[in-house]
Amino acid sequence: MARFTTEEALAFISAMSLTLKGKVGFKWMVEKLSALSEYIESLAAENDVLRGRLAECAPHEETTSVCIESASAEDLSDVLEVENRAFAGDPDIEILVRDLLGDPTAQPLVSLLAREAGRPIGHIMFTAVHINGSEREVRASILAPLAVVPERQRQGIGGRLIERGLGMLDASGVELVFVLGHPAYYPQFGFEPAGALGLAAPFPIPDDHADAWMVRTLRHGVLDGAHGTVVCAESMNKAQYWRE
Ligand SMILES: CC(C)(COP(=O)(O)OP(=O)(O)OC[C@H]1O[C@@H](n2cnc3c(N)ncnc32)[C@H](O)[C@@H]1OP(=O)(O)O)[C@@H](O)C(=O)NCCC(=O)NCCS
Repeated sequence: MARFTTEEALAFISAMSLTLKGKVGFKWMVEKLSALSEYIESLAAENDVLRGRLAECAPHEETTSVCIESASAEDLSDVLEVENRAFAGDPDIEILVRDLLGDPTAQPLVSLLAREAGRPIGHIMFTAVHINGSEREVRASILAPLAVVPERQRQGIGGRLIERGLGMLDASGVELVFVLGHPAYYPQFGFEPAGALGLAAPFPIPDDHADAWMVRTLRHGVLDGAHGTVVCAESMNKAQYWRE
């Protein structure tokens, strides 16, 4: 490919003025213009290659390098590492996760682990619940716990785990998903106060925290005839997990 060196570029500029003064031919100018255009194209191609290499070298700048997969039994220590770091060593969190994973009444459950360059950075769990007193049988789950390691918080990882989990539950026929959590966080993913919709938490939630008990509907019209008290898996059915 014809290349334009700095010297040629300078010669080209002086030639332009010569052409304008009528001292070199028009055909020569066209040839030089075509070489210049090829040179610009080759620069653009080099630029693309360099951008690609930069993206590979700096995965932390983007969340695209984060991979989210169902957690298997072999991932247990990574899951617990994420949970313990996110909840700053609260001993209850490890007990809850271990118990839920082995609890038949929590089935079907969804446990997703987010990794970045192989390193575990986020974890989310959804476990089955029932609605006592509901006029019709509703397939429902509860989101708990959700954890992102401190250095990767507020970078969209929690949101991606929630969206992925909701998508999987929806595809499997789940209609409602509950959560007891930050009322400023979960509404951005479609959660709304559940108590006002006639869906009570397993343990009473104090009035000043009532909006922390939320539900996300996955099917239009699912709330028709679906009212009552949520009953969660046995291992989560303990008062200590229901203080917000
Ligand atoms: C809460 C948590 C899971 C959120 O995950 P994340 O990846 O940090 O959050 P995202 O990046 O998806 O969302 C960020 C946005 O959500 C909101 N948000 C995040 N954490 C929040 C919190 N603790 N309270 C209220 N809003 C919060 C903010 O609007 C934030 O945007 P901003 O940074 O522009 O203010 C994570 O911070 C965490 O693991 N915290 C410790 C454990 C915990 O509290 N788990 C949740 C139990 S319900």
